[in-house]
Amino acid sequence: MDETAVNNAGAGSDILKLQLQELTAQVLDLKMKLETLQRENNQLRRENTQLKRMPLFVASVIDVLENGEVYLRQQGNNQEYLTQVSEELHAVLKPGAKVAVNNALSIVKVIGNIYDSRVRVMELEESPEVTFDKIGGLKNEIEEVREAVEYPLTKPEIFRKIGVEPPKGILLYGSPGTGKTLMAKAVAHQAHATFIRMSGSELVHKFIGEGAQLVRELFSLAREKAPSIVFIDELDAIGSMRTHDGTSGSAEVQRTLMQLLAEMDGFDNRGDVRIMAATNRIDMLDPALLRPGRFDRIIGIPLPDAAARREILKIHCRGMSLSRTVNIEELLKLTDNATGADLQAICREAGMNAVRRDADAVEQSDLIYAVHKVRREPAIMDTRMYR
Ligand SMILES: Nc1ncnc2c1ncn2[C@@H]1O[C@H](COP(=O)(O)OP(=O)(O)OP(=O)(O)O)[C@@H](O)[C@H]1O
Ligand SMILES: [Mg+2]
Repeated sequence: MDETAVNNAGAGSDILKLQLQELTAQVLDLKMKLETLQRENNQLRRENTQLKRMPLFVASVIDVLENGEVYLRQQGNNQEYLTQVSEELHAVLKPGAKVAVNNALSIVKVIGNIYDSRVRVMELEESPEVTFDKIGGLKNEIEEVREAVEYPLTKPEIFRKIGVEPPKGILLYGSPGTGKTLMAKAVAHQAHATFIRMSGSELVHKFIGEGAQLVRELFSLAREKAPSIVFIDELDAIGSMRTHDGTSGSAEVQRTLMQLLAEMDGFDNRGDVRIMAATNRIDMLDPALLRPGRFDRIIGIPLPDAAARREILKIHCRGMSLSRTVNIEELLKLTDNATGADLQAICREAGMNAVRRDADAVEQSDLIYAVHKVRREPAIMDTRMYR
């Protein structure tokens, strides 16, 4: 009995010894693997820093996809591509963010976000200073704009009582310098609303890749600052007839336009955000923009007639000392096709000329000189074309 016990104990310790040997061997093995992994790790770290040190390109994020990929557009050459990103990056990236990418097109770091450009592209004025009495002529147009923009903000109950929906979007169209921006600002002033202006052409030319996102931001800012008036200047830059030429530039404009249409569709006509836009090229606009529920109130802003020109000249000469020689009626005959902006320039030029002469007051001759200068000088015609 005892003998068997001793034998058993001997066999037990043999097994234990074997197990110990085996375990020691495993430890050694693991140590070796650990060393290899550590070497690999160091190597990767070195490569990683190396990659980060290489020249980087700036790209903007167009979309963050569900599958962990990010759709980028490189700045400068406008090449577009997809790249895989880590989970942490995926969580923080937003369309419009600026990122640095390396040669292998992986994102190395985030260098800016959308809010920078939002500040740069949008002009915001809490109740602008412009009032209706600074606008000459355009009486009917002003009344139409007030009905469509101001009253829904200031007297919503009337619309509710009568049971009529105010128009969704108001489009002002007319030649450059006829007072479209001025009207939009004045109506914002009158309604005590925040005026948020965004220029369509800046949006598509300066903020390539960010257009759609900026439109989204524009409307969320408008909701934040309500009551507010969103004013999209140069709507034709985003809303031109679709070209289908397949270039990425037009695809980008398309996306921006789609976003604008989507934002407008999601808007309540009765809400305290009103949407206005202006264009010189209504003939070029995509018909989708002019459908009911989009820009459904279209107001033409004409060139000023003689009576309106008289008012405009008076407005812009208001602060100047005028000599008794000044004959407004004669000026009206000389300014047949002049816009409000031309007339403003004429008053300024006449004033400058009087200053140059070191005179006490502006004479009719100063005004006539200014008419010729403003209306004939090629340089001025050129700037008008590009405004
Ligand atoms: N009806 C007007 N009454 C008084 N001033 C005017 C009028 N129209 C234009 N002006 C003057 O011309 C300037 C330019 O007008 P505004 O910016 O409103 O033109 P616009 O129609 O928006 O032109 P654009 O299409 O080039 O944007 C105004 O700042 C204003 O001084
Ligand atoms: Mg304007």
